[in-house]
Amino acid sequence: MSNGQRRLPHLDPGEVRVAPSILSADFGMLASEIASITPATDWLHVDVMDGHFVPNVSIGPPVVASIRRHTALFLDCHLMMTDPGDYLEPFSSAGADSLSVHVEVGGTAALCAEMRRLGLGVGLVVNPETPIDSAFSHLDLIDLLLVMSVHPGFGGQSFIPETVAKVAAARQEIDRRQLEVTIQVDGGIDVHTAPLMAAAGARCFVAGSAVFRPVDHLAAAEEILAAAAAEVSA
Ligand code: DX5
Ligand code: ZN
Repeated sequence: MSNGQRRLPHLDPGEVRVAPSILSADFGMLASEIASITPATDWLHVDVMDGHFVPNVSIGPPVVASIRRHTALFLDCHLMMTDPGDYLEPFSSAGADSLSVHVEVGGTAALCAEMRRLGLGVGLVVNPETPIDSAFSHLDLIDLLLVMSVHPGFGGQSFIPETVAKVAAARQEIDRRQLEVTIQVDGGIDVHTAPLMAAAGARCFVAGSAVFRPVDHLAAAEEILAAAAAEVSA
């Protein structure tokens, strides 16, 4: 299956998305794991770890290319890499729809320009210990601002409550400048934490273990989405 024409990761005001993270899926049966959650969403979060920016190693462009052949979902690839610049084109060719790079690795403006040139959605990620205003000077360049709510590297960690205030600050800045930037949150997101982040202004909810640990992945994804949506429409 091909992704056809690429879309950008824009959501309409009031729209919410759950983005299941395949990091917690069974890698031995990825296609069926992805199919199981597809009725709940049109986004899939793909965690790429280089063993350097984070201690863990996960997957690279060949696996993204394989996933692409099995799904039309929007492939939102989170690059936990020290040198993402070397991999933008390979991930683009593999069929990624958007790539998100960490602000901590530097060279943000050039990385964003290259992602834009490749026709990709442009994402920027801020770690829990990194001040949120480090992303503010780049907001004009991006489509997606990913605020990490755990330290990147592993699934199944506990949500860091202090990150809620960072989402609220980002929401305020994005609205003040009337920008069309989607705020995404990632780490420890479940039916309890998604509403907190939705109230603060997040609209895209990455969830790994909360979706793929329960036997019924689809119900789990739908419950997270409903919990977030209830907060946004309240
Ligand atoms: C963590 C990754 C996350 C991870 C989230 O480094 O960026 O996307 O899959 O997993 P949970 O939802 O289990 O915290
Ligand atoms: Zn992630």
